[in-house]
Amino acid sequence: MIRRLATQTLRWSLLPLLGLSLAACERPPMESVQHGYRGTGMVQVYNPRVLDDVVEANRVPEPQPAAPADGPKAKDIYQNVQVLGDLSIGEFTRLMVSMTAWVSPDQGCNYCHNPANFADDSLYTKIVSRKMVQMTQTINSQWKNHVSTTGVTCFTCHRGQPVPEHIWFTPAQQAMGADFIGNKAGQNTPAASVKLASLPYDPFTPYLLKDEPIRVNATRALPTDHVASIASTEKTYALMTHMSGALGVNCTYCHNTQSFSTWEGGPPQRVTAYHGIRMARTLNQAFMEPLTDVFPTERKGELGDVAKLNCATCHQGAYKPLLGQSMLKDYPELAVLRDAFARAPAPGTPSAETPAATATEASVQPAATETRQ
Ligand code: HEC
Ligand code: HEC
Ligand code: HEC
Ligand code: HEC
Repeated sequence: MIRRLATQTLRWSLLPLLGLSLAACERPPMESVQHGYRGTGMVQVYNPRVLDDVVEANRVPEPQPAAPADGPKAKDIYQNVQVLGDLSIGEFTRLMVSMTAWVSPDQGCNYCHNPANFADDSLYTKIVSRKMVQMTQTINSQWKNHVSTTGVTCFTCHRGQPVPEHIWFTPAQQAMGADFIGNKAGQNTPAASVKLASLPYDPFTPYLLKDEPIRVNATRALPTDHVASIASTEKTYALMTHMSGALGVNCTYCHNTQSFSTWEGGPPQRVTAYHGIRMARTLNQAFMEPLTDVFPTERKGELGDVAKLNCATCHQGAYKPLLGQSMLKDYPELAVLRDAFARAPAPGTPSAETPAATATEASVQPAATETRQ
């Protein structure tokens, strides 16, 4: 009797769970599109019923009307401009108005400024923003192998809110699962970062902050050639799952599944993604981590680390952020590093002497360095 009661209770308590697990499934019919040569099985599967939502979510705000480039420069009038001094007063003000709309529309100028003195640097948000301007300029000028001329603005990541929707922190060791039940080794806990799979849920620290090799299988029989451990294999799949989710694509968007590791016969998007991994890593190292002491404690992670970015920070579920619409074309001051901007003949035409920034790996050729026999 008690037994029957127990099974019944169990059955009823499982029902809502069943509903929950099915809620993650998408209702057919789906549409599939060939992405590679016939016979390679490189198919992209789309849900036509969510496409309207995707378009809605990637609507781009109207640019502010252009401002005159002549007249006195910001550095001649204002007291504390370190990055944008070469803009005219009109261009400078236009950018401030745009930045407010992109990052803090509800809070206004005072999110970054002490209204009694705009030159004052006491708010951390202003220090962060100055670095963000430089980061945006670096992305657009030094990482064209990823962002092309489409580029990014503050809006690409922020979408009208001070803290971008998709950021990550390194999970504390405790959360990685070492307790009296055993060490879960940072996996076997369904996590949104890996689309609820039981894969390691922090592929970001090893690959988008540190520089661990993204490798799965050995290509030869000898044990000495087994450079990839099971742990690195699982972490690699975790990163790939994040990348697919962040772009809203299947694995075959970047891979010819005949061989996941070879570059030959794969689509060009994989090369773009290769540079994207290096870009995200470099931005986290060169711009986010140095801001650690600037951010207040409540903005930091359990380990006191700063918020960092990954593929989803820009892409937000789209194969190209904002479905490939360029906001940068209306904001040429964000297209070049400040040094280059000072010397360039006109905004938007970076000169040949654009400084080779430290924060780039533009010369890395994936085919040359990564091919394994
Ligand atoms: C998201 C942060 C942010 C917002 C919002 C913002 N600003 Fe700024 N502002 C900055 C930063 C960063 C600088 C310094 C730029 C530099 O060093 O080149 C700055 C500098 C200035 C300065 C120069 C002050 C001086 O004397 O040095 C003025 C004026 C200014 N902003 C006006 C505005 C106005 C007006 C608004 C609202 C329409 C606004 N800002 C909104 C980040 C912001
Ligand atoms: C590549 C993505 C990306 C771009 C582009 C970007 N940001 Fe950010 N921004 C971030 C991340 C990640 C953080 C850290 C989130 C946090 O504050 O906890 C951040 C934080 C900030 C903050 C601090 C907010 C807070 O309340 O803690 C400000 C202000 C800011 N960004 C302004 C800007 C401005 C202005 C631009 C454009 C010039 C810009 N950002 C461009 C990713 C980006
Ligand atoms: C947006 C493009 C993209 C998507 C989507 C993608 N990958 Fe990858 N994948 C790459 C890139 C780029 C590399 C090489 C990374 C590196 O070496 O830095 C890679 C590497 C790999 C490797 C390692 C191969 C080796 O040399 O050991 C495997 C396995 C793999 N991906 C599987 C997958 C699977 C499974 C999926 C779907 C869940 C997937 N990928 C989705 C771009 C992608
Ligand atoms: C700073 C913002 C930003 C980040 C971070 C970022 N991307 Fe991108 N990505 C872009 C932009 C902008 C484009 C569009 C470039 C263009 O128009 O050709 C793009 C394009 C791509 C493309 C080409 C799509 C196509 O159909 O041609 C792939 C693949 C891609 N990104 C993968 C990634 C992966 C994987 C990551 C994370 C490791 C990543 N991106 C991180 C901004 C970003």
